[in-house]
Amino acid sequence: MRIAIINGPNLNLVGTREPEVYGNRSLDDYLDRLAADVAQQGVELTRFQSNHEGAIIDELHRVGRGALAVDGIVLNAGAYTHTSLAIADAIRAIDPPVVEVHISNVHAREAIRHTSLIAGACRGSIVGFGLDSYRLAIMALLAKPFNLT
Ligand code: DQA
Repeated sequence: MRIAIINGPNLNLVGTREPEVYGNRSLDDYLDRLAADVAQQGVELTRFQSNHEGAIIDELHRVGRGALAVDGIVLNAGAYTHTSLAIADAIRAIDPPVVEVHISNVHAREAIRHTSLIAGACRGSIVGFGLDSYRLAIMALLAKPFNLT
C-alpha cells in the first residue's frame, strides 16, 4: 500500500511558524516518525511539499493517475484550501481517494477559514487534531468498512 502526503504553502515552517496554532514540533520530524511507524504495517509513505499552487497540482497528477498511482493521498493544501478551485478540480481528475487534513481546527478560526473549496472533492476531512491529523487520515485510508448487516 502506498500513500502520498502532499503539503501546501507554509507547512515547511511548522514548528517555528505560529507555534501557538501549529505547535513546536517540525512537520518533517513528525512525518519521519509516522513513516517509520506505518512502514511496519506495510505502508509506504511518500512526501511532497510546495509553496506553489501549480506544483501541488502537478504532484496530484503525478501520484494520482496511471499505472504508478498511489492507493491514497493525504492533502494539507494550507491556505489554498480556502481559495483554490484549481486544486479541487485536480482532485476530481485523479483516481485515488484524497483525505483533506488540517493541523488546526479551521472552524474555530477566522470565518474565511471555514470554507474549504476542496472538501467536496475529497473522500473526507480530518481537522484540528494537531499533527496527529496526518496519522488519523492514514488510519481513515487504511480502515476497512464495517459490515453492520
Ligand atoms: C492549515 C489551515 C489553513 O487555514 C492555513 O492557511 C494553513 C494551515 C492547517 O493545517 O491547520 O496554512 O491548513
